[in-house]
Amino acid sequence: MAVPLMDPRAQYEPYVGELEQIAADVIRSGQFILGPHVKAFEAEAAAYLGVKHAIGVANGTDAITIALRALGVQPGDEVICPAYTFFATPETISSVGAVPVFADVDPDTNNLDVESVRARITGKTKAIVLVHLFGQVADMPALLALAAEHDLKVIEDSAQAWGAEQDGTKAGAFGDASTFSFFPTKNLPAFGDGGLIATNSDEVNELVRMLRFHGSKDKKVFELVGYNSRLDDLQAAILRRNLQEVDGWNAHRRQVAAWYEEAGLGDLVELPPVGEGNVPIWHLYVVRTDHREALVEACRERGVGATVYYGEPHHTQPVYDSLGYAPGDLPVTERLCATGVALPMFATMTRDQVTEVVEAVRAGVPAGVR
Ligand SMILES: Cc1ncc(COP(=O)(O)O)c(C=O)c1O
Repeated sequence: MAVPLMDPRAQYEPYVGELEQIAADVIRSGQFILGPHVKAFEAEAAAYLGVKHAIGVANGTDAITIALRALGVQPGDEVICPAYTFFATPETISSVGAVPVFADVDPDTNNLDVESVRARITGKTKAIVLVHLFGQVADMPALLALAAEHDLKVIEDSAQAWGAEQDGTKAGAFGDASTFSFFPTKNLPAFGDGGLIATNSDEVNELVRMLRFHGSKDKKVFELVGYNSRLDDLQAAILRRNLQEVDGWNAHRRQVAAWYEEAGLGDLVELPPVGEGNVPIWHLYVVRTDHREALVEACRERGVGATVYYGEPHHTQPVYDSLGYAPGDLPVTERLCATGVALPMFATMTRDQVTEVVEAVRAGVPAGVR
């Protein structure tokens, strides 16, 4: 039995006819940009996350760029972020002219290690962009306390964490601003690109709304150099419908993680740990093994999707040669990049598929080897 790494289409199959009708209604409405569905989705998203404002933008990358700008990050400022993440995290910091400063991560959550962040704070540090990687919330009490101590802005890159919680608060509701992606493989998917910025600040809300619209409130007076970065009504309409399903999908992902444990996956590889107070949504289910090549090969032979995410950390990517990092600078990040491998995880995965994956892993990494 082949088991894909993810299967986004299967999750909306039961109501695909309804989605076709939703799309047809938007087409007939003739309202495509900043129309009624965007407004409604922004209100529903803000209520879901427990924040005052949510603003739709074109994608999760623009969301970080615009959030950095709205929080006053200027060329030459330093912004601390992880090197174990998708490239968009440091890329956006560079694209606004700031300097990404890479801190190491905590192996218990895959997310920023507060002591490593502390060690990198200088007089030029303006903000922290933390990531809730793979759908698990970073250590927010410690990171928020450190940011408050040094008067730093906090952006939560929550692209992989729609619905994840820590001690009852949703990912995206902690920082000065947070950002989301609705790329079709994300756990709250659009049918194309889409993104969102959330904030409790009226001032940030106003700036973000201007920045996504060429720096203008009315397309007549231009107060800032901004962007053309809007969520469109077709995507917003689809997202409103998918939002009704996402808690069920997330719960099923947690069930799949429990099945992996029950099936003995932990005897073969190191399972992803869950930090204290965290309810993850398992955007990706990344296990760790020193025998990654053998595992991937055994999975490939059996048609099981097993893929390495972020095999190369960003501090040693060629684009950042000029920043002067060397291998060994971020030991935990480098170990996780060298040993992590994502196994199939999706909202319609069955227990039989879990068994199949575990058998494929066992063929590559027999018990006792790990
Ligand atoms: C952690 C992280 N940040 C940012 C992004 C960028 O989102 P998008 O692809 O919507 O621009 C992604 C998704 O690809 C991501 O995983």
